[in-house]
Amino acid sequence: MRLTVLNGPNLNLLGQREPEVYGTATLGDIEYLVRERARELGAELDWQQTNDEGRFVELVQGMAARADGALINAAAFTHTSLAIRDALLAVDIPFVEVHLSNIFAREPERRRSVLADLAVGVVAGFGGTGYLLALEALVRHLKARAG
Ligand code: DQA
Repeated sequence: MRLTVLNGPNLNLLGQREPEVYGTATLGDIEYLVRERARELGAELDWQQTNDEGRFVELVQGMAARADGALINAAAFTHTSLAIRDALLAVDIPFVEVHLSNIFAREPERRRSVLADLAVGVVAGFGGTGYLLALEALVRHLKARAG
């Protein structure tokens, strides 16, 4: 099973960025834990982060040839990017939307995701642990689908 994890803008600053909202773990810390768990689950993992919307679209498009499923934290693009939505519609790969913070308990402009209705599910509010929960859920979903 090949999985891709896509991280959007400013997530490279985790650890120093608004720790009261996003916690003190760095993106590298989270990547390490997710890679370890993916290995235990027998999944191959491609981990990406970009601050660029066009690059994010290209990474989504590239999943068509490379991934059976994805974890996606599009960060601020979650709330605005029809380009990323269109790319996800085009590749049609099962994904779980992940957010460190509970976006539904934040400012009104963050309570809406333009991607969530395309997702298998959404995990939000559990910090870095959310990536692990989303990984477990995605692997179960893909296995159940495979029968
Ligand atoms: C975020 C929530 C977004 O609103 C924000 O722009 C981020 C991170 C999260 O993981 O909680 O950059 O996606």
